[in-house]
Amino acid sequence: SCGTPAERIAGLLEDFPDHPAPGVVFRDLSRVYAEPGLLAGLAAQVAADFRGAFDRVLAVESRGFLLGAAVAASAGLPLTLVRKPGKLPGTVHCAAYALEYGEDRLEIRTDAVAPGDRVLCIDDVLATGGTLGAAAELAEACGAKVAALVVLVELTGLGGRASLARYPLTALCEVP
Ligand code: PRP
Ligand code: ADE
Repeated sequence: SCGTPAERIAGLLEDFPDHPAPGVVFRDLSRVYAEPGLLAGLAAQVAADFRGAFDRVLAVESRGFLLGAAVAASAGLPLTLVRKPGKLPGTVHCAAYALEYGEDRLEIRTDAVAPGDRVLCIDDVLATGGTLGAAAELAEACGAKVAALVVLVELTGLGGRASLARYPLTALCEVP
């Protein structure tokens, strides 16, 4: 195990052309998660880099749960789940969004965040930015401030960073 985190992630990514739809090159992170200790190490780095700057982690279903939960555990801070429609009980805020291969909605419990919390919104991949934009919107609907958006991998060709320009955004690895 050598190289920077970005080099390690890039070296483990696998490309699948035309998945899950024609024209999409799917960047699969299975080998990143399969590497013993790598996810925990990356999470510890994120927790350290943002130490003192956030009070809570917001993790996006499904794949954002992995890094998100690991960062919350490493930081010793609360974790809030942003979920696909119909999963969360009670009263929810809802946001619709477009993504690289379709559209969807995300939900958050209205009581999920303490007012004024500074939240780190975490996902695995940034593509068009629709998903993280919706997650940030949901955090704000709950009265939170978005401290930063964090992803493992940014797909730089899809305009996601520009669409999220109003938030600080950190990618552990950038790929074209
Ligand atoms: C993927 C990925 C991100 C999102 C990025 O999730 O995990 O959440 O797409 O795309 P965007 O920047 O264009 O919004 P997907 O909706 O495929 O769901 P999953 O995590 O449940 O697999
Ligand atoms: N989420 C959205 N677009 C993606 C892609 N091309 N690869 C992996 N995850 C994605």
